[in-house]
Amino acid sequence: MKNTIVRKKIIAISGSTRLRSTNHSLIKAISELYVGQLDVAIFNGLSELPHFNPDDDTSQIGGKVANFKQQLKRSDGIIICTPEYAHGVPGTLKNAIDWTVSSCEFSHKPTLLITASTDGRYGHKALLETLKVIEAKNIDQLQLLIQFAKTKINSDNKIIDNKTLEDVKEIMNRFIETVNETASENGSEISIGR
Ligand SMILES: Cc1cc2nc3c(=O)[nH]c(=O)nc-3n(C[C@H](O)[C@H](O)[C@H](O)COP(=O)(O)O)c2cc1C
Repeated sequence: MKNTIVRKKIIAISGSTRLRSTNHSLIKAISELYVGQLDVAIFNGLSELPHFNPDDDTSQIGGKVANFKQQLKRSDGIIICTPEYAHGVPGTLKNAIDWTVSSCEFSHKPTLLITASTDGRYGHKALLETLKVIEAKNIDQLQLLIQFAKTKINSDNKIIDNKTLEDVKEIMNRFIETVNETASENGSEISIGR
């Protein structure tokens, strides 16, 4: 077995497509905090994915859907940061996840769910249930709800509330542990921390 030192590939998805999204800022904040340890690619294509239709969801599918699936498949872990809309999961995010159900990109993949919203409880619970049924790895332990998010994360991509910063670091440590464990279970890689 060959040991290589690699930064784990993480794909991060913001459930908000808003230009000045708090969730997008949160992803950037996380990416900056773990820059030496993780290679975080932000998936910006949620609103470009077509509406999910099971008839089109075949192995022949190409284009943006195939590219999305491939990015998920090649990643060592997935981070989702999302607001709640009307007590539910934002439609564009749910649409993207629906494209992965039959092809199982989330199955056994370390996945971290952070809901950063004004309240967020309903959307968080609904998305947890979805992620559970598609077998996202350790999802019960890898989840965090950040309420009144706009007061805790600023537009300079900084987490400005100390407790939130602590909570994010704690959940990220747990996520990285799961990512590293999963990579070594799968075979070939050993990573080092910062
Ligand atoms: C259409 C719409 C519906 C919303 N519904 C809720 C809601 O049910 N619960 C909640 O906590 N926030 C709700 N919000 C507020 C957003 O969650 C909040 O502004 C959040 O910070 C937006 O995240 P973003 O900055 O990443 O876009 C709603 C916002 C919009 C635009």
